[in-house]
Amino acid sequence: LINFTSQLVFTLSDSTSHRESTEAVSSFPSEFLFGVATSAYQVEGAVVNDGKGLNNWDIFSHKSGSILDGTNGDVADDHYHRYQEDIELMHSLGVNSYRFSISWTRILPRGRFGSVNLAGIEFYNNLIDSLLQKGIQPFVTLSHYDFPQELEDAYGSWLNPQIQEDFRYYADICFRAFGDRVKYWATFNEPNILAMHGYRTGIYPPCRCSGSFGNCTHGDSEVEPFLAAHNFILAHAAVADTYRTKYQKEQGGMIGLVVNAIWFEPISNSTEDKLAVKRAQSFLINWFLDPIVFGKYPSEMEDILGSTLPVFSASDLNSLRNGLDFIGVNFYSSLYVKDCLHSKCEKAMGSTRTEGSSLQTGIKDGVPIGEPTPMEWYYVTPQGMESMVLYLKERYNAPLFIVENGYGEENSANKTVEDFLNDTKRVDFISSHLDALARAIRKGADVRGYFVWALLDNFEWIFGYTKRFGIYHVDYKTLKRTPKASAMCSAVATTRPPVIA
Ligand code: NOJ
Repeated sequence: LINFTSQLVFTLSDSTSHRESTEAVSSFPSEFLFGVATSAYQVEGAVVNDGKGLNNWDIFSHKSGSILDGTNGDVADDHYHRYQEDIELMHSLGVNSYRFSISWTRILPRGRFGSVNLAGIEFYNNLIDSLLQKGIQPFVTLSHYDFPQELEDAYGSWLNPQIQEDFRYYADICFRAFGDRVKYWATFNEPNILAMHGYRTGIYPPCRCSGSFGNCTHGDSEVEPFLAAHNFILAHAAVADTYRTKYQKEQGGMIGLVVNAIWFEPISNSTEDKLAVKRAQSFLINWFLDPIVFGKYPSEMEDILGSTLPVFSASDLNSLRNGLDFIGVNFYSSLYVKDCLHSKCEKAMGSTRTEGSSLQTGIKDGVPIGEPTPMEWYYVTPQGMESMVLYLKERYNAPLFIVENGYGEENSANKTVEDFLNDTKRVDFISSHLDALARAIRKGADVRGYFVWALLDNFEWIFGYTKRFGIYHVDYKTLKRTPKASAMCSAVATTRPPVIA
């Protein structure tokens, strides 16, 4: 252990960007949350233990061909049974917050009917109490990609407005059970990604798509993403309203929403490409935030989608406006944007996204926008995080939390455990993003927290266990956790005494 620690210290003291980031840490506000993040399906395991019902990912991951390595989250990191050990890891890091999600079907095994599963309540009670005993604030997401399968089978989940009331019912149970101790609530994680991958490309459950969008045989990729998003937005509004009217005054917490945010740069200086950036932003972020903050969809979406875009009723508008206390941001990368309204777009540019008549790519004239990561879909662009934060401050003027930021690696069989532990790229990634965040805060952004994705290597959705994002390495045979160099880096960052800028 001594050898290992000195190796880490050597790695860190050798890193220029780390030195810069320790400078940066001192400009974070004193109440700032430094945390680590996970989500229920990705780490808990215990798929049917203690009365848990099945969710959409339990079913989907067991269908052959769904997950790259044919795995599932049945065991994952077994966090359900090892949460005490994991809290010790967090404690040794010195973090003051843990972002996790509640598994809906642990609380309501059938989604809406039937009684509350007391074993599920007990698990999260124990988790929350143990965290607080160590001075770690729970930051809770009510739904991180997983939904009761029963609601999909009964009425088509997010395509049906009934889901709004069912989600509200579930959230109400959580506020009542845990809200005396949980002060940070997020309704959904990345509903913008779910609407696209569940109903446009069809690569996530319920795997609906059509036309040139994917290989599905059912669904309507032109209409359904926007219908699903509409129900997500109204479900968020219903839950925020319940929290505010029944719990917030007494419990004194905040409620918000987490979006996946990419920073977009025009691929050229042309007016067309600059306008395409606005459309790309509207179709990714403003799509959800504009209705919740301003009560309307962005005009770029109205212009392109016309009557395909659902309409808010007068009563919807009442519950919508100013429907959040904070914006949660998952930031991983920036991309270039090219206009496709006035010019022809070739998909060959390596684009992964084409929303809003814009083509989004990480590469311009053969040169990547930042250092490529092993994840293909993203590049190291800390400056993009600074720009993103300043953009959100300007547009929405709401408190922000960076609730995910991290570095993924291939889980190659050719690598030794030591190779994974010496994760200097991840150290530099975290350090440079903390520097960027410090700059944004100095420029006046109201950022209240930063969470590394992830505490542990875990089940990375359709990639299964082929990617490793953790600052702790997990041996999937023994489930042993071992700190990587990035865990030391996070420990150094978070234990420095915070000084107001
Ligand atoms: C965002 C998602 O919220 C999380 O579940 C996922 O593992 C990370 N991105 C990395 O892809």
